[in-house]
Amino acid sequence: MKQAYERPALVKHQPGLMNKLSGVQAMRPMERIDGVPVKELTARFGSPLFVFSERTLVSRARELREAFALRLPRTQLAWSYKTNYLDAVCKVFHREGSWAEVVSEMELDKALRHVPGSQVIFNGPYKPEGALEKAFRAGVRVHLDHFDELARAEAVARRLGLRPQVAIRVNMALPGTPPWSRFGFNLENGQAMDAVRRLRAGGVLELRGLHSHIGTFVQEVDAYRQEARQLAGLANRIAAEQGVAVDWIDLGGGFASRNTLHGQYLPGSQASPSFAQYAEAVADGLSALQLPGGREPTILLETGRALVDEAGHLLTTVHASKRLPDGRRALIVDAGVNVLFTAFWYRHELAPAQELTGTPEPTVVFGPLCMAIDVVRDQLLFPPMAAGDQLVVKGVGAYNVTQWMQFITERPAVVMISRDGEASLIRRRETVETLLGQEELPAWLR
Ligand SMILES: Cc1ncc(COP(=O)(O)O)c(C=O)c1O
Repeated sequence: MKQAYERPALVKHQPGLMNKLSGVQAMRPMERIDGVPVKELTARFGSPLFVFSERTLVSRARELREAFALRLPRTQLAWSYKTNYLDAVCKVFHREGSWAEVVSEMELDKALRHVPGSQVIFNGPYKPEGALEKAFRAGVRVHLDHFDELARAEAVARRLGLRPQVAIRVNMALPGTPPWSRFGFNLENGQAMDAVRRLRAGGVLELRGLHSHIGTFVQEVDAYRQEARQLAGLANRIAAEQGVAVDWIDLGGGFASRNTLHGQYLPGSQASPSFAQYAEAVADGLSALQLPGGREPTILLETGRALVDEAGHLLTTVHASKRLPDGRRALIVDAGVNVLFTAFWYRHELAPAQELTGTPEPTVVFGPLCMAIDVVRDQLLFPPMAAGDQLVVKGVGAYNVTQWMQFITERPAVVMISRDGEASLIRRRETVETLLGQEELPAWLR
């Protein structure tokens, strides 16, 4: 076969960080996912392609549950729908015993198809009357975000003649985490306690829980110790002042996955705490609880990315390889930030889907969009790749398949590999008909 000719280029040698072997880390190909060949997956379902591993979803959910069960037996997981609301993914978590945590009416509708209302937590700053009505009728646990919502919830409950069980969402300042004060009632300035008094005085809603969500990708376990301690203190105060012992304390999500952030020195696999470390901190903070009769509330966790990131892979195909004027090799692949929103956050790990030979050289990986921001990885030491070669982007399970854009192209298919190694389609690739199906041409334009 005739070799492709490429004009020689002078490229500055960049050996990367020295490791103890004083060299470039070995580039290990990833030819299979849970035993299924990557090439077979793309041949069957096309490229680009999202691939989820049921095995990893289940093992992460069990790891989290067991880490908390050891220290806080009354812990209940509630799957954060916004992180990934593909039906198959939700179903795996629900089968593992998770409740649902939703932040919109659409998510509420999805969740109520899977679990009873009593196992749904409704968060978020925007809950129109219709959504509140649906939630109250189904016995969903509504977490109130602001005073206007409190008044709206009362009006809806009065109209329905119901006495719904609700929680208030609380925000607080914590060491080592950026302020996350946009949602809920503030603890330090007394707003949270005012909300409790206001809710009790209204006599329409029943205060049953407290909720807080302190941020996302929080690698600081001490922040959870403080959060738990503050919520325990608030629960004690409510019990002393109002004679109400809360039934649930919801600590929100935010545990870091094993991905690596841009600008992070150590890889996420080393820098992110384990579930056991988070559980230890939370249990320590909650030891401050002193409810009447030693009552122990249920502890809810809305962990998202730390459960699903690792289970998701994005398979992509090299469309072209070119040389940039600064000497770097550029790869153009068929998946970009349109389907990989998290590329703005994470330095995603990339592996070739086949054995590569050749000297690693500075490489940038661009997506297919005609936009400068479409960068999958801006700096990578990678052996040369040719059109048709494939890559696996790892750790893509969270947020991408909910925040993906349709910009200039259809969204790709999504597949799940079962624990028995069977690959099944869980979302069809969109087509131009998907797009046109939503559109109308007015008569005067036909
Ligand atoms: C209220 C709430 N709970 C849970 C989550 C899930 O967070 P994470 O994916 O960081 O665990 C989020 C995400 O921002 C959230 O807003």
